[in-house]
This record gives sequence, structure tokens and C-alpha cells, in this order.
Amino acid sequence: MADLRTEFIGIKSPNPFWLASAPPTDKEYNVVRAFKAGWGGVVWKTLGEDPPVVNVNGPRYGAIHGKDRQLIGLNNIELITDRPLEVNLREIKQVKRDWPDRALVVSLMVPCEEQSWIDILRKVEDTGADGVELNFGCPHGMSERGMGSAVGQVPEYIEMVTRWVKQHSRMPCIVKLTPNITDVRKPAQAAHAGGADAVSLINTINSITGVDLDMMSPSPTVDGKGAHGGYCGPAVKPIALNMVAEIARDPVTRGLPISGIGGVTTWRDAAEFMALGAGTVQVCTAAMTYGFKVVQDMIDGLGDWMDEKGHTSVDQFTGAAVPNVTDWQYLNLNYIAKAKIDQDLCIKCGRCHIACEDTSHQAITSMVDGARKFEVIDEECVGCNLCVNVCPVENCITLEPMAAGSIDPRTKRPVEKDYANWTTHPNNPMAVKEAAE
Ligand SMILES: Cc1cc2nc3c(=O)[nH]c(=O)nc-3n(C[C@H](O)[C@H](O)[C@H](O)COP(=O)(O)O)c2cc1C
Repeated sequence: MADLRTEFIGIKSPNPFWLASAPPTDKEYNVVRAFKAGWGGVVWKTLGEDPPVVNVNGPRYGAIHGKDRQLIGLNNIELITDRPLEVNLREIKQVKRDWPDRALVVSLMVPCEEQSWIDILRKVEDTGADGVELNFGCPHGMSERGMGSAVGQVPEYIEMVTRWVKQHSRMPCIVKLTPNITDVRKPAQAAHAGGADAVSLINTINSITGVDLDMMSPSPTVDGKGAHGGYCGPAVKPIALNMVAEIARDPVTRGLPISGIGGVTTWRDAAEFMALGAGTVQVCTAAMTYGFKVVQDMIDGLGDWMDEKGHTSVDQFTGAAVPNVTDWQYLNLNYIAKAKIDQDLCIKCGRCHIACEDTSHQAITSMVDGARKFEVIDEECVGCNLCVNVCPVENCITLEPMAAGSIDPRTKRPVEKDYANWTTHPNNPMAVKEAAE
């Protein structure tokens, strides 16, 4: 049986599924319910200095839904915790005492002044919490006050504050990064330079989910006005995966533990983050949408998949996909795949034909021998995958790789399996460029 136990920067948890710092972790009542449901750990909702912040009392959320009302993306304008610091600290201490086998990390955000960090670290240390996560990612409300993503967008500040935290505390320190930046490797490198034990990412992405065209105001609208919020949920997963991979394969930060966050909804999402180097994953939107019990499906699904693959521990596949993340110029240009349409599954809607005919390569028929029929023309197909993606029937269109040695009917070039001599291969644009120079 697969063993899901995780040890992340010395913090043990029965499984890699942690709740991210957010409303689900804002109080003892929620966290205890989460632990009862099976979550391996939590990052407590971000604590700040007293007096606590004041949140809006109108709508805090906006959302993007699929046609079936499935929640695809969530936008929020909530701040850090609005509960008194002492109440949170008392509850954290109690929960850690009652649930010693679960990970309990405390998220923090105070002004960029050394004394403010010393003061709060001392108080958190007294609770017996397992570690701290520095919230350098919150993109609204707090950033205007010089905290959150305002810090996360300046690598020098990240390094400075991380260094203070490591200097004034013996707790493991995770630095939570903002995605609202051009190159996520820079803040990760700064966290590493400051002595961070790990990074977590992503926090939410700056967003406006819609505009109310009657009020002429962005939504969510609070008394006629709206402000940008932070976007999360399934929609942000691809952005988060890329950022995690960038840090995992960067020579400067390679080996730095990562907690992956952003749109994790199923065990498979979690496995993907872990394959790209995340030692644990954190979840917010899925828990807020479906309740704490979603973790059971994640635990069962990950365990079943690991059994199927013969992985007995999570370490055996963590980071396994990182060596296969490469830059474009290293892709094999003589790997050729062609689309294939399963005529038994085809419902003859014609979407593949129209997409290919109007916008791509004119490689799908609409009529064959006077009858409505959709077939791939191998001489024109570049294997782009657009038809696969627009087809409404799953597995009706697939991309079939051509065997090595066969001749591509479009380019008339032989198919090569991989390039032993890629650095000098004529199909490598970089090699061609270098040879010309
Ligand atoms: C309503 C709400 C409040 C949040 N508050 C915090 C917070 O206080 N501190 C923090 O670090 N992240 C906060 N987040 C961000 C989440 O921890 C997480 O990084 C983000 O939602 C992406 O994960 P997800 O796609 O699973 O939701 C909040 C997110 C939401 C939706």
C-alpha cells in the first residue's frame, strides 16, 4: 500500500494535502473540522498586527463559471485575518496540542520593520506551531499598505525580511510568492538567498472577473465601486504549474523545497504539482467549493495511482517530471504526429473541420464521396492538436505519433525518434544560427 506520509522541511504530515492560508483556516472550528476530514496540514489564515484589519461587508467574491455552473475561477477582495491576534494565537496553540500529527504552519504579514517581525515571531513560537509562511503574495488591500505582493515584487525586500525571520526564529520558514511578477525565479532566488527553507506558490493573480454593465462598475461591486481582486481556482493551475517548474529547474534554486498551490482540485492536480517538484500541495478554492471532505477523494485517488505505478512513497515521484521540462529549442522537430478521427465516435458536428479550415492548415475534409465525412488529410496535417481540443467528444480525435524511420507525407522528411546529435542537428534552429555566425 502506498504510504502518503510527507516530511517537508522537517514538518511531518500524514499526507501531502494541506489547506492554504485562507478562510478555511481562519479559526479553530474550521481547522478542527478539516483535520477530522483528513487534511494532512494547514497554513493558518495570515496573521497581522493588532488592531485587526476591517474587511468589506458587501460581496468579497466574483467568479467565472463554466456552462454547467462549475466554478472555474474565483476572485476575492478579502484581506488577512480580521480576528484579534491573541484569539488566533490561543486557538493555534490549542489545535497544535490536540492534533500533534498534523502540520500547522502560521502565515504572517507585518510591516517591513525588523521589530514588527521580531514581535510576531516570538508570539507564534510560543504556540508550538510547526513553522511560518511569509505572505509576500496578497495582491489587494494589503499591498497598498506596503505589505503582501508589494514586498513579493521586490526581491531585495524578500531577501531582507526572510533573513530577519531566520535570524530571529528557529522555526522553519516558507516564503509564499506572488505570481504578479514577470520572472518568478527572481523572488524565489531572493528567498533562497535570505535563507528560506522553502517557497510556496502561487498566491492569487490580479484580476477583475467582470463588469456590471448597469452600474458600470467592476464586480464584485461594493456600493457602486469595485477594486481588483486575487484570482484562484482551477483556472490558475496552468500558470502555477509553470511557475513551480521554473523554480524547480532553475540552477540557483534547484533542490529548494516547494509547496505547490493554485487550482488543486483532484488527486491528479496534486500529483502533477508534485511531479514538477512540489513536496506538498496547498488547497483553497476546492475546499471552499466542495467542503473539507474533498480531501478523501484526493487521498484515495493518489494512493490508488501510486499503487498502480508501484510507488510506495511520495518521494519516488516528486520532481520526476522536472528533467523533461525543457526550453523550446530542445524539442525534437522530427517527431511527427498526425490527427486521427474515430469514425464510430464522430457525431459529425464539423467543429474540427471549421477550426482547421478557417484558422489552421486545411487538413480535415467535410465531404468524402459526396457524403458528410470528416477525415484527416495526412499531407496537410501538422499535428497541431487544435482539432483534438475543439472536438466535443472525448477521445474521438487523437494524435498518433508516426513510427521512427517512416516518411512524413507532408514534409517528406524521415521521422526521427530522438536526437543524439541535437546540438549540431540541422533542424535545431539554434545550431543553424550558430553555424551561420
Ligand atoms: C478568500 C480568500 C482569501 C485568501 N486569503 C489569503 C491569506 O490570508 N493569505 C494567503 O497567503 N493567501 C490567501 N489566499 C490565497 C490562497 O491561500 C491560495 O494561494 C490561492 O487561493 C490559490 O489556491 P487555490 O487555487 O487552491 O484557491 C486567499 C484566497 C482566497 C480565495
